[in-house]
Amino acid sequence: MSDKKKAKNNKKEFLQELISFMQSKGFVWGPEPEIYGGTAGFYTFAPLGKLLKNRVEEVIRKTLQAEEFFEVECPIILEKKVWEASGHLKGFTDVMVICSKCKSNFRLDQLLDDYPETKHFKKPDQFLKFIKKKNIKCPSCGGDFKPEIKKHDLMMKTIVGVNQEAYNRPETATATYLPFLRFVDFFRRKPVFGVFQIGKAFRNEISPRQHIIRMREFTQAEAQLFIKKELKNDYEKYQEVEDELLPLWSYKTQEKNKKVDDIRIKNALKKGLFKSQAYAWTIAVAYKLFTNMGIPPDRIRMRQHFPDEKAFYADDAWDVEIKTKSFGWIEVCGVHDRTDYDLKQHAKYSKTALEAFDEETGKKYVPHVLEIAFGTDRPVYALLDFFYEKKEKEQGKTMFKVPYYLAPIQISVFPLMRKPELVTKAREIYDNLSKEFVCTYDETGQIGRRYLRAAESGTAFCITIDFETLEKKPETVTIRDRDTEKQVRVKIEELRETLRTLLNQEKKFEELK
Ligand code: GLY
Repeated sequence: MSDKKKAKNNKKEFLQELISFMQSKGFVWGPEPEIYGGTAGFYTFAPLGKLLKNRVEEVIRKTLQAEEFFEVECPIILEKKVWEASGHLKGFTDVMVICSKCKSNFRLDQLLDDYPETKHFKKPDQFLKFIKKKNIKCPSCGGDFKPEIKKHDLMMKTIVGVNQEAYNRPETATATYLPFLRFVDFFRRKPVFGVFQIGKAFRNEISPRQHIIRMREFTQAEAQLFIKKELKNDYEKYQEVEDELLPLWSYKTQEKNKKVDDIRIKNALKKGLFKSQAYAWTIAVAYKLFTNMGIPPDRIRMRQHFPDEKAFYADDAWDVEIKTKSFGWIEVCGVHDRTDYDLKQHAKYSKTALEAFDEETGKKYVPHVLEIAFGTDRPVYALLDFFYEKKEKEQGKTMFKVPYYLAPIQISVFPLMRKPELVTKAREIYDNLSKEFVCTYDETGQIGRRYLRAAESGTAFCITIDFETLEKKPETVTIRDRDTEKQVRVKIEELRETLRTLLNQEKKFEELK
């Protein structure tokens, strides 16, 4: 077997193992509805998965709020005219080929993922010739593809009331642009303001095959910076990030099959890799979002779009990509300079001037929009992919070593054994800790099994109430650290504060006395 094939098989095996871990431990279930056979692209975030997703979303909120973005929640369903204006009704399609033997459909970009040179292709003929030249066959049955390229509409239609045509939004961004005039008032006519949304979006993918990486119903998190055009290259926040290094993979470097370079933001701007200071700043915020979400920096790269690869609304466009064990590099975020495209389109279709007012010059203007567009499902997947571990040497013991501040369950409380006096004390401690932390209480089975169950769920610390707790003053309990499996005795009166500092990463477990 060739090395390439071996690597592909290893990835496939790991994916199966990971999915079964996610299902059995209660992270992700589906495709749903499982009892009816399941529809591709729809999943349930099970109890632990939902806790993890909430933590990821908390990090996103904190990071964006620290950068002065305000959160909003706009409607999911919007009338047809909105999508005519945005361009999605006409331009939001995937191109696919169909197998002449088994009739399976394949998205061209996925089918040709191993051939970056095809990212330039625009015309159907170019793709068809390439498929023939490389003798690319149907991955399902090995058959030949039909000699035609089909377009597939990604919009999900619905009906409002009796017969009003409407669509489930394919992105939160468009919904965020519509109350523009309200924002102008809310932000007291500032020339720069930021807004974000975390919410559901829908895309009628052809045949999603990558678990929660590609869903038909998914959660987006999209930040929009509205900025006066003239300020894009005179943006004060740019100074805060200009010396930062970013792993940049420009399209020219990709073309030459060269590796990612760590480039200082100001040098990237000088080289023309970004068109404006404000755009460079949004790229830095995007990078920070992913490192704050616990993604190891050595697994992140920023990939520039080829000029003919950009979305129909984008002027400058880079993606954040992360390297997973199961799928290799995946795209997790797009950073787009959408210029004044959206506001002008919605002004035209709604016949409402979407303009801001410059207090100094007294002139009206249409701001530009810089967007950081990503989702919350993919980072959750990536965390599971990186931090799931199987210890072959320890009878296949599994762990989820997610950073402590992201642990779905933060604390588990155990009485050493099921004796009434230990149970009463353990319950009392659980009641106290659960006021502040996400905790579980577990008294069933051997203590060793309970530690194991907690580690599989990613629980950061286990608190055990033993006979010493009851017999000695001051009262103490043990804290057990998930990763080192070491234990330290701590006074009950200091327990909450100690756990808080450990979970916030203000203190390391080894520093406890
Ligand atoms: N808002 C851009 C996107 O959905 O990719």
